[in-house]
Amino acid sequence: MSEQSKSVDPAIIAALRAVLPHSHSPYSKFKVAAAVTDETGAVHYGINIENAAFPVGTCAEQSAIGALVTSGARRIERVVLTGSDVGNLWPCGACRQRIAEFAGPECDVVVVDGAAEVMRTPFWDLLPKAFTLDAG
Ligand code: THU
Repeated sequence: MSEQSKSVDPAIIAALRAVLPHSHSPYSKFKVAAAVTDETGAVHYGINIENAAFPVGTCAEQSAIGALVTSGARRIERVVLTGSDVGNLWPCGACRQRIAEFAGPECDVVVVDGAAEVMRTPFWDLLPKAFTLDAG
């Protein structure tokens, strides 16, 4: 079974639930937690961190990607998201571009609620014409 067809590990859902309350989102009240799985199978977590200067806030995906890259990993195999409103939770446009920088060809995006998967899509369906530069 490919990594992409696998259901989300319940341990990842539990970890997302554990970090979601750490979201700093006093302005939008929209808490988000993200998990990104790298090429070694390691999972990196992040939450959204808002700021009184609104544009300075960071998305959960941005935090998680920062942790992945900081660890030395360079590929995103899966993005798992949860939040206050899972019926309306896809990565924003800017985060799609951030994910595109590192996403593998089979990367998928999965939204989970407290217990289970609620939505799933191939990442490249969300940003089929991503801006890229050939880094050589
Ligand atoms: N947000 C994320 O962290 N990730 C998403 O995929 C969508 C939106 C955050 C940004 C902001 O803190 C709040 O959700 C409302 O937009």
